[in-house]
Amino acid sequence: MISKDTIEQIIYYARIDEVVGDFVPLKKRGSNMWGCCPFHNEKTPSFSVSPTKGIYKCFGCGKAGNSVNFVMEVEKKTYPEALRYLAKKYNIHIEEKEVTAEELAAQSEKESLRIINIFANKYFQTNLWESDEGKSIGLSYFRERGFRDDIVKKFELGFSFEERKALTKAAIAGGYNPNYLVKTGLSILPERYANETSLTDAHLFDRFAGRVMFPIHGVSGDVVGFGGRILGNSKEVAKYLNSPQSEIYDKSKILYGLYFAKKSIQTEGFCFLVEGYTDVIAMHQAGIENVVASSGTSLTVEQIKLIQRFTNNITILYDGDAAGQKAADRGTGLILEEGMNARVLLFPDNDDPDSYAKKVSSDELKNFIKNNSHDFITYSASRISEEEKKDPIKKTAFIRHIIDNIALIPDSISRSVYIKECSRLVDVEEQILSLEVNKIRIDKETRKQKDKNRQHPFSTDPAPVKVDSALPTSILPEQLQFVEVDERQLKLDVFDSIEKNICRVMIMYGNQLLDVEVYNSEGDLVTMQISVAEFILFELFHDELNFINPINQLLLDEFIHQMREDVIPGESFFLMNTNPAISQLAIQLTQEDHQLSENWAAKHGVHTEHEAHDIKKMVERILYVYKDKRLQDMIFELKESLRDNANDDDVFITLSEIRKFESFKARVNKLLGRVIVK
Ligand code: CTP
Ligand code: MN
Repeated sequence: MISKDTIEQIIYYARIDEVVGDFVPLKKRGSNMWGCCPFHNEKTPSFSVSPTKGIYKCFGCGKAGNSVNFVMEVEKKTYPEALRYLAKKYNIHIEEKEVTAEELAAQSEKESLRIINIFANKYFQTNLWESDEGKSIGLSYFRERGFRDDIVKKFELGFSFEERKALTKAAIAGGYNPNYLVKTGLSILPERYANETSLTDAHLFDRFAGRVMFPIHGVSGDVVGFGGRILGNSKEVAKYLNSPQSEIYDKSKILYGLYFAKKSIQTEGFCFLVEGYTDVIAMHQAGIENVVASSGTSLTVEQIKLIQRFTNNITILYDGDAAGQKAADRGTGLILEEGMNARVLLFPDNDDPDSYAKKVSSDELKNFIKNNSHDFITYSASRISEEEKKDPIKKTAFIRHIIDNIALIPDSISRSVYIKECSRLVDVEEQILSLEVNKIRIDKETRKQKDKNRQHPFSTDPAPVKVDSALPTSILPEQLQFVEVDERQLKLDVFDSIEKNICRVMIMYGNQLLDVEVYNSEGDLVTMQISVAEFILFELFHDELNFINPINQLLLDEFIHQMREDVIPGESFFLMNTNPAISQLAIQLTQEDHQLSENWAAKHGVHTEHEAHDIKKMVERILYVYKDKRLQDMIFELKESLRDNANDDDVFITLSEIRKFESFKARVNKLLGRVIVK
């Protein structure tokens, strides 16, 4: 476990603009920096970074957080992983706290798999560059394929010896745990040894023996797996073997080359998608670096979302054979459905980018790609000949294909642009195409809703209260019937939102001082100054109230804890809190409401400092309303329980509880009357 001191240090040094800047190009405007949000689709920047507050906030999708949250979100890392990433970036030594055995086991497995991959990656490269076998077989294979040495080094390509246990032995001799060798898939454990408790190199053999090696890097550069290619073109064995699924390698969520491509994707504003490892490498060699491959699997939605963090534009570069065409069609659909833009280029004569790149100069390759990649409609149109267009059946099928694709696009403006384009190309009226597209979309929406409602009775989640505003409700009024309101959930939501408001006030104004009137020990009414935070805590304690939502209570506890040490924590203490649940809540509260009140104020021509104007009144009002509602609810619940309860002792206790809460409520009502009437 990382010590609290280290966490504080990391949060202190990790400058939000630098951390975000590694992923998103930012421009300064006013006191904030702005860029396109990496978490949702957008063309105009609504993603802001505040260096002074140390947080980011997207006004488009609402995502907000501090440096650690950003890394967690953008790199899909866990909290400790994000901290380690930042520690590395800022050269901060991580001080480890004593950990329990279970904690250690849970966190160390992933770490151990990574460490073994680092070892293997080094090992394979040393083989390639320093051993006779590696040089004469592996390195000469890459050179024959035309890969330059600097490119082989950049991609950390390697070689795995023919000897069936070479890596396994070297790793075990180096002290690496054989179980992790099996888990990473570097070594294979034959079925007959499956129950063996203490594994040695006698039980294991290398998965990749006799292959050239392509390490697969995660977005942040860790080696998560390997691909190994046979030398030559035997049909007997699989051309490529890949690491199996593991704790650190999920092939559906990894793109080969993304680590090397991410900078260039951002500067170029688009990303090439190719089929294989060697295509990525050959393109780099030709000076094209914004390229990734969905190696070892057919393209997945997760992979597309991975690209979407960096750009909305994907150009598919596949082999022009039947399989390539099919894969391109499928890819186009997936890309459009994510709201991204798809272009396609299929290489002629069964070339792939690698083999084509070998035939031409790098400028020729760049020009060829530029002149021959088309948006998906032009690409589709290029696949039907003038001759075929005369055949009504062929023509209809062709139009249907395009329309199906247009219907996948979430954005209605993009859809209408494509419909126009399509109408021109196939010579069918825009309105008819548009009608067809809408029909497909409505069908799909209806099907989706039906599925949802079918699941509903079995679901344990509370019933949905809100209607999805993205739904075309105007055309589907009957869907509204299915929306049920869960009374209890609604009540909890109300409590939660008032609690959150109280937390927000505590964070934003907690250390401001209020004049309050209290009775001193002589029974005289005197005026005394206390902080907003103390006032709120005092009021809550007085009526024995805890917050209903545990996360709100957590924030409150943090206040209590700090105030025991005589400090009233300010906004930045919460925004940068070492507990990610607290910092996330604080950011959500202070940033969102701030935005809300600013909008509201602008609309009503009111100065934003309105709220801060009479803090005392505002605090009292929120608190007393909350207490009134909570006490009323508690009294109601107690009375309900009386009805079902026959036991005399319990009845007696319950009755006295009710009386107590009623007296609390009477006091609160008096106070509430005072602040409401003014
Ligand atoms: N692939 C795989 N397993 C195979 C064949 C292919 O995982 N048995 C994956 C590899 O990631 C490969 C990609 O699919 O890079 C594309 O396959 P293919 O076009 O056949 O290979 P190339 O990348 O062209 O490889 P090479 O040029 O070395 O033949
Ligand atoms: Mn190839």
